[in-house]
Amino acid sequence: MYDDLEGRVAVITGAGSGIGRATALLLNREGCRLVLNDLRGEDAEATRNLLENPDSAVIHAGDIGDPATAEQLSELATETFGALHIWVNNAARSLFGPLAECSNEEWDSVFQVTLTGAFYGVRSALKAMRRNQGPQSGAIVNIASGAALAGEEGLGAYGAAKAGLVNLTRTTAVENARYGIRCNVILPGPIATPPMLQAASQSPGGVDAWASQIVPGRLGEPDEIANAICFLVSQQASYINGSLLSVDGGVSARTNSPRF
Ligand SMILES: NC(=O)c1ccc[n+]([C@@H]2O[C@H](COP(=O)([O-])OP(=O)(O)OC[C@H]3O[C@@H](n4cnc5c(N)ncnc54)[C@H](O)[C@@H]3O)[C@@H](O)[C@H]2O)c1
Repeated sequence: MYDDLEGRVAVITGAGSGIGRATALLLNREGCRLVLNDLRGEDAEATRNLLENPDSAVIHAGDIGDPATAEQLSELATETFGALHIWVNNAARSLFGPLAECSNEEWDSVFQVTLTGAFYGVRSALKAMRRNQGPQSGAIVNIASGAALAGEEGLGAYGAAKAGLVNLTRTTAVENARYGIRCNVILPGPIATPPMLQAASQSPGGVDAWASQIVPGRLGEPDEIANAICFLVSQQASYINGSLLSVDGGVSARTNSPRF
C-alpha cells in the first residue's frame, strides 16, 4: 500500500502486545525491517514469530525507562540494518488511582516510562536519523492517549505524562523539520488490547455493555491505530509534522453534557 516503506528500518517499543504488535505486523507487511523492543522479551519474540518476514526483525528485551535502552535500540538498528528511519514510542506505564492517594514513587514510575522513556527514544532516534540526510530522513510517532487532553478520574499521573508527550512531539517536530525528520502524536481512544479489555471486563455488564456506551458503540482494534501509524511514517504524510491525530471513533468529539 505504501511503496516508500520497503526497506525502511523501524524501532517499536512495547512491541510484544496490543498496538505495538499490530504495528509490527503492518510495518513488516509493508516491507520494513524491525527492531522490536519489549520489557518482556518472550512477548517480543512471539510478535517476531507472527511477522510475514521474521528474518527481517530482531528483538530487544529491556525497560524503556532505562536510558541505556534507547541507545541500545538505536545501535541495534544501525548495526543490524545499516540505518534507522522510523521510531514508534508506544510503550507506557499506566496506574489507576486518585491523585490524592498517588505516592511520589507511583508518580515517578509513570513519568519515567511514559514521558522520560519516550524522550530517551526521541533523542536516540534523532541522533541516528540526522545521519540519513535528505528530505525524508526519519519519522517518529508517539502514542499518547485521549487522556492527554482531558481529565479522567483515576488517570492523573498517566494523563499528565501523556500531555507532556504532546509537547515533546511538537518541540521535536519544530526542531527537526529542517533535518527532514517529522514527529507526530496519536491520541488513541479505547482500543481492544489486553489492559483495556481487562479493565472493561470489570465494569457492570462486561466489555460489550461498556463499549456500547461510547460514541462508536465499540472498542477500536489495534490495527486501526497501526494503520494511522503506518500512514504517518509514510511519504503520504510528508507535510504532516507536529500534529495530534485522534484515532478514537469520535469519542473525543462529544461534549460532556448529560444525555437526554
Ligand atoms: N488500549 C487502549 O485503549 C489505549 C488507549 C490510549 C492509549 N493507549 C496507549 O497505547 C500504547 C500501547 O498500549 P496497549 O493498549 O497496546 O498496551 P499493551 O499492554 O497491550 O502493550 C504494551 C506493551 O508494552 C510493554 N511495556 C510496558 N512497559 C514497558 C517498558 N517500561 N519498556 C518496554 N516495554 C514495556 C508491555 O510489556 C506490553 O507488551 C500505550 O502507550 C498506551 O498508553 C492505549
